[in-house]
Amino acid sequence: MTSSPDRFSLSRGQVLLLLLGCFLSLTVVAYSDYPREGFSPMGAQERRGLEVWRSNNCQVCHQIHGFGGFHGPDLTNRLTDGVLDDELIQVILSGRGRMPAFDLPDEDLDALMAWLRGINDSGRAQPEPLQAAISPIASMHFNELIALAGERDLVTIPGSAQEGLDLWTTMQCGTCHRAFQAGLLREPDLTAAATDRSFESLYQIITEGSGRMPAAPLDDDQVRTLGAFLQWVADNRPILSELNLEFTQYDSFRWSDLPWFEY
Ligand code: HEC
Ligand code: HEC
Repeated sequence: MTSSPDRFSLSRGQVLLLLLGCFLSLTVVAYSDYPREGFSPMGAQERRGLEVWRSNNCQVCHQIHGFGGFHGPDLTNRLTDGVLDDELIQVILSGRGRMPAFDLPDEDLDALMAWLRGINDSGRAQPEPLQAAISPIASMHFNELIALAGERDLVTIPGSAQEGLDLWTTMQCGTCHRAFQAGLLREPDLTAAATDRSFESLYQIITEGSGRMPAAPLDDDQVRTLGAFLQWVADNRPILSELNLEFTQYDSFRWSDLPWFEY
């Protein structure tokens, strides 16, 4: 028994019809699969924000509604109602991790924030932004790490070191000295700095400064508490460094989160 070779073959006309059908249905899907209602045109301030965004090439690293670079987080829904402008402005002005600092005037920053707020109102980002376990503002980095370590009962910071941490925070040492990474201008990471350091050498560098490190007008006791803090950090470095990874790493990327048009 032989089967007919052209039992399943289509005529040229049928193939063309099939292709036309595919084209039409794809067109319908492409133009109807995301909501377009609720769209309001940009005001002058927002338009200015978009100009600032473009002229500083923010889109090279950040996505808006999934479009843009993947070096930084998607910012479509970053400036929600509960978030303060200052929170983001501080990151933009001083940088964080791989985010460079931008020296922008206040008007530009306000415009950027107005624009980001407008973008947030324009809908939910698709794909859902990679959930970053985002590292906190530089000057608060240690505080948050140590709070998390406490919450999880990994370590608790003793009083003397806590005093040093408070001083570290008020003196803004963390804006230059990042935890577990070099600062923006290569300022040293101090998480292991206290392991072989005498009080005198610490006193000298803190009160007299060195290179680009400014002198801080602190007395003996204050330097001692800072030293106690740095010593405590050095002693608990493995635990803190493990936690820090959680802070600074993004969730892994899932292809299934991408909408069809990204393929
Ligand atoms: C070279 C790539 C790069 C450029 C250019 C860049 N960013 Fe970033 N940005 C990042 C990275 C990476 C992060 C995440 C930093 C971190 O927490 O480790 C980030 C974080 C941020 C955050 C904080 C996000 C959050 O969830 O806390 C804001 C806001 C931001 N960037 C705004 C901007 C703006 C506005 C511009 C343009 C003026 C810009 N960025 C340009 C890479 C970049
Ligand atoms: C403006 C940025 C800046 C600030 C703010 C700053 N530092 Fe520094 N710090 C530096 C730089 C840069 C160096 C490296 C100096 C050098 O190489 O001579 C340094 C070096 C140090 C060192 C020596 C590190 C080593 O291993 O040799 C210590 C300790 C130190 N800083 C502590 C502090 C403390 C404590 C504070 C807060 C009171 C502070 N720094 C604030 C920039 C800063």
